[in-house]
Amino acid sequence: MWDYSEKVIEHYRNPRNVGKLDDADAIGIAGSLACGDQLKIYLKIKNNIVVDAKFQTFGCGSAVASSSILTEMIIGKSLDEVKKITNKDIADQLGGLPPEKMHCSVMGYEALEDALKNYDDYVDLDDLREEPVKEKIICQCFGVTENQIWDAIKHNGLKTVEEVTNFTKAGGACGRCKDAIKDIIDTYYKKQEKEENTSLSPAQKILKISKVIETQIAAELQKDGGDITLVDIDGSKVYVKLRGKCSGCKNAMMTLKGFVENTLKEAVDKNIEVIEVE
Ligand code: FES
Repeated sequence: MWDYSEKVIEHYRNPRNVGKLDDADAIGIAGSLACGDQLKIYLKIKNNIVVDAKFQTFGCGSAVASSSILTEMIIGKSLDEVKKITNKDIADQLGGLPPEKMHCSVMGYEALEDALKNYDDYVDLDDLREEPVKEKIICQCFGVTENQIWDAIKHNGLKTVEEVTNFTKAGGACGRCKDAIKDIIDTYYKKQEKEENTSLSPAQKILKISKVIETQIAAELQKDGGDITLVDIDGSKVYVKLRGKCSGCKNAMMTLKGFVENTLKEAVDKNIEVIEVE
């Protein structure tokens, strides 16, 4: 167990200036999601004075504490003063960090350095801002947003809540956010499947329809002694022979044909029309 100063613990429990500045004059990034730690710092600068600063981080308690105290250290300071801050200054302000955690103060320093460099170079901030406007916090314990979780899933092919926790820390404390993380994973893969389906060639579409009928629909109908035979596919029209009834349907009013059509619409293409033949 690491030995943390009271100040580290206090800043970790009550981090200051968490979030983003939509009208930031400079944004700096350090670390990477792939390595599990990332810090993004936003600066508002007027007349060479840092008038506001905020941060978003994926990281451990030391990363949160380092980022939090860094924002306090720079707000109200001139750019000349801010440029002199080192990672040692950050660690000193926290009353020290365990040697194994010094990288967190380095990450704070690097993000600040990156922001100042971007400000000096007049980098187009639109290139640095993430595309989504919405920044909904999913994990309150770690301040992890929906976009951060989405990106982690997308970039790393994450499929389980546990994997998301390993990469972002979201879900790793009280666990209240786990259902929301699961919803994001499900939404991501449903969206991805839809995108894959829209790019299917006619031949791939026929194969997919056949596969869904065989593995999902027939299997469901056979449980109740029913069955389905695929007769023909013509564009979005799917001709089938049906037997049995829809006792397994979630909606009691749904017909057998309705069940087949809904399943194919969901799994393959919303324009599919099922036509029952004798
Ligand atoms: S809200 Fe995510 S672990 Fe507590």
